[in-house]
Amino acid sequence: MQPAKAFTLAAHGAKMPVVGYGTMELPDHPAELVAAAIENGYRLIDTARKYGTEERVGEGIRASGIARDELWVTTKVTELDAREADFLRSAETSLKALQLDYVDLLLVHWPQPKVPFTETLGALAKAKRSGLTRHIGVSNFTVAMLDEAVRVCPEPLVTNQVEYHAYLPQDRMLAALKRHGMILTAYCPMARGKLLNDPIIGEIAKSHGKTAGQICLRWLIQQPMVAAVPRPLEVTHIKEDLDMFDWSLSDDETRRISALRSRHIRIADPPERAPKWDVETVL
Ligand SMILES: NC(=O)c1ccc[n+]([C@@H]2O[C@H](COP(=O)([O-])OP(=O)(O)OC[C@H]3O[C@@H](n4cnc5c(N)ncnc54)[C@H](OP(=O)(O)O)[C@@H]3O)[C@@H](O)[C@H]2O)c1
Repeated sequence: MQPAKAFTLAAHGAKMPVVGYGTMELPDHPAELVAAAIENGYRLIDTARKYGTEERVGEGIRASGIARDELWVTTKVTELDAREADFLRSAETSLKALQLDYVDLLLVHWPQPKVPFTETLGALAKAKRSGLTRHIGVSNFTVAMLDEAVRVCPEPLVTNQVEYHAYLPQDRMLAALKRHGMILTAYCPMARGKLLNDPIIGEIAKSHGKTAGQICLRWLIQQPMVAAVPRPLEVTHIKEDLDMFDWSLSDDETRRISALRSRHIRIADPPERAPKWDVETVL
């Protein structure tokens, strides 16, 4: 199997691995899982202050023995730390927890409407300019928020990390990201497991000799400028989610999977912080 690091997406000077290892809600042996993911070829680890997994991610990275510059580490600042001083303090706390000198990507985890974007995005750019992170981006921003963020941020944004899978269309966001030369990073790429029992996905998986999880991921990363951060816990799934790069879906298979959008299922929609999401036309 070729290591995932060979497959990257380029945006504004960043070269981001196309498949990363998500670390939200890891069970009781998270450092071992992170180390196993790296040993199996993952070169992007996705964490966040909110997940409470940064310490364990750092342990896993050290246990893997990988060279720092071989790895891409993403972390995020919560919407509760959207003020400049809090934001920068949060980024520094993340580095301490990870025991790293810098991360590769720092994201605004959720938009905070109570703080002007100029302040939060300004703090994000400052984090980059002061070397806390190599690249910056946002997460859970709507199209209007993304346009505004790009307009006010003094440094280029590399990605918007949003929920994206075959049950949730993101056409408007993909078009907006294309305009800005940015990557869509898909979270919940398997709709947190809901897609795995879909009969269409199952049928296509069987015809390729692949698993349903692999079909979900391949459908995503076959699209231009789309990366994904699955969170497999089973070692077989960890391996499967990287065995992704020497086969492809046909146009007809892609169309059939894309038609599942009519289900329109959104998994991550916390009422206390979710914005009013963009409405997509579901044909
Ligand atoms: N920015 C944000 O606000 C945000 C929000 C949510 C999530 N995220 C990020 O996205 C990551 C992934 O999201 P998620 O965990 O919610 O959703 P997910 O990856 O869609 O779903 C996780 C489930 O998929 C299963 N799975 C993974 N690979 C599989 C395979 N090859 N075959 C069968 N099952 C497979 C896992 O099973 P096993 O555990 O049994 O392997 C697990 O039950 C998170 O860890 C986090 O890093 C970001």
